[in-house]
Amino acid sequence: MTKVKSARNKTIDTSLDDGYQYLERCITVNNPVNDIFSILDKTVLGDSLEVLKYLPRECVDLIVVDPPYNLTKKFNKNTFSRKSKLDYESYSRKWLAMVAPILKSNGSIYVCCDWETSIIIGNVLGDYFKIQNRITWQREKGRGAKANWKNGMEDIWFATKGDQYTFNLDAVKTRKKVIAPYRIKGKPKDWQETETGNYRDTCPSNFWDDITIPFWSMPENTAHPTQKSEKLIAKIILASSNENDIILDPFLGSGTTSVVAKKLKRRYLGIEMDKQYCLWAEQRLEMADTNAEIQGYVDGVFWERNSLAEQIAVKNSTEQKVEREASLPSEQTIFDFLEMK
Ligand SMILES: C[S@@+](CC[C@H](N)C(=O)[O-])C[C@H]1O[C@@H](n2cnc3c(N)ncnc32)[C@H](O)[C@@H]1O
Repeated sequence: MTKVKSARNKTIDTSLDDGYQYLERCITVNNPVNDIFSILDKTVLGDSLEVLKYLPRECVDLIVVDPPYNLTKKFNKNTFSRKSKLDYESYSRKWLAMVAPILKSNGSIYVCCDWETSIIIGNVLGDYFKIQNRITWQREKGRGAKANWKNGMEDIWFATKGDQYTFNLDAVKTRKKVIAPYRIKGKPKDWQETETGNYRDTCPSNFWDDITIPFWSMPENTAHPTQKSEKLIAKIILASSNENDIILDPFLGSGTTSVVAKKLKRRYLGIEMDKQYCLWAEQRLEMADTNAEIQGYVDGVFWERNSLAEQIAVKNSTEQKVEREASLPSEQTIFDFLEMK
């Protein structure tokens, strides 16, 4: 019996038969590429451990890596099998040695891990890059364990090629409700008083607790088993790249990095070995042509989790303000009016 999806279920699960036109947009790379621009804004269908060796040296500004963690996990037709620590280390060294020469001298790399994989990655990443930080993401959802703590976090390692690198602090501030509205001479100190409440745009820390994994009711959701949310990737891309910069994801999955890069006006290249996931990536890239929204990132600011009602209230109040201002005579009109008199 075929499953009937609820009307609110937005999960993208287009089959290979129904979405062959998306798959046709993907490319393969079997020979050295001299000019990275000749293959930009594409999804490469292939094995990264083969494709990466054909890419030019020092050509990308940012690399986002969400590799298979050291767990046994089914990725559609392929199963990644849990390895011994030493074998997982060799596997990680393999792709790290391949991406390192591709990154520009002022470029950055982010690597996602679960806590166990993080112990291995944290140990080897420094052999290829300068480690700048370890971000901990409280992912909220996790499967309960009978005799252990539920796994509710992931690490994201942030490293750079050198000491000079892009970091756009103002682009990744989080909008928080002010709990203690401190004033100096009656004026708000570092916070804004608005019609919908009091807010402060705060500097982001290396603890991210404002991002959920994608849910079935979100338009970005696909049937990929380990999809990252667009809000999470948006933080990385906004902090560590500028418009028109080139972003590479060698384990693209359902396409999140490429989609967010496109929405934020960056160039992108993603590599994924599974056809089904390549198809969903291309389908999402097409959807981004008509909808560049990133849930949780509105008007250049990251909002806290579960703040949709506030975001809508702020949007409505801003729209009403714009309408009110539009209906008022402009300074020039008043000036003309006084001149006439
Ligand atoms: C953890 S998932 C990435 C999920 C992705 N961040 C997203 O938001 O959908 C890892 C992906 O890497 C792919 N993969 C694993 N080994 C690969 C390889 N050697 N070359 C290309 N893709 C690979 C898997 O098929 C899987 O989709």
